[in-house]
Amino acid sequence: MRKIWFATSNKGKLIEVQERFSHLGIEVEQLIAPYPEIQADTLDEVVEDGLKFLWKEYSRPLMIDDSGLFLDDREGFPGVYSAYVLHTLGCQGILDLMHSDTERQAHFKCCAGYIDESGNVHIARGRVDGSISKEERGTTGFGFDPIFMPEGHARVFAEMTLEEKNKMSHRSRAFDKLAGMMELKKD
Ligand code: IMP
Repeated sequence: MRKIWFATSNKGKLIEVQERFSHLGIEVEQLIAPYPEIQADTLDEVVEDGLKFLWKEYSRPLMIDDSGLFLDDREGFPGVYSAYVLHTLGCQGILDLMHSDTERQAHFKCCAGYIDESGNVHIARGRVDGSISKEERGTTGFGFDPIFMPEGHARVFAEMTLEEKNKMSHRSRAFDKLAGMMELKKD
C-alpha cells in the first residue's frame, strides 16, 4: 500500500485525511515535525513556507495543512489567526463576540500542500460555507466544529460523524484536489 507522510500534530486533521485517502488505498502516516508558522496574510503563504522548511529538514515527500475559520461580517476574522483565537478565546469567545449578531455567515478554508520527491510544491484549496450557531453543540471533531453549521444542514460539524463531515468539509475538498494533483488515483 502506498504511504504518504502528513506533518501535523493535530489528531483531528490526521484522522480526517486518513479517512479521505483510505478511499484511494493510500495510508497516511503522521509525521511529528514542527515547523514555524510565519506571520502571513494567507494560508497559502504559511503552507509554502512550511513545506520548504520541512524539505530542508527531512528531504522527503510530505503533506501539510493550514486552515482557518473566517467570519464573513468581521472581515474574515480570525482567519490566519484561528489557532491563536481558539487557544485564547475558544469557541465561547467567538459566540460572545457575536452574541448580538444576526448575520452569522462564516466559512472554513483549508490550504493543503504537498512537496514531492523533487522538491516541487503543490497547493490545493478547499472551502465550506456555513454559519455560526448560537451555542456550542456536539461532541465530535475538533477546534471550531461545535459552533460551525455547514450550509443546508441543521447540525454543526461536531454533531456529525467523521464520514459526514468529510463529505463536505474544506479539508476533504482540498485534499481530494491534492490527491488528484499527485495522480494518486492512477496507482
Ligand atoms: P491550523 O491550521 O493548525 O493553524 O489551525 C487553525 C485553527 O482552526 C485551529 O485552531 C484549528 O483547530 C481550527 N480548525 C482548522 N480546521 C478546522 C476544522 O475542520 N474544524 C474546526 N476547527 C478547525
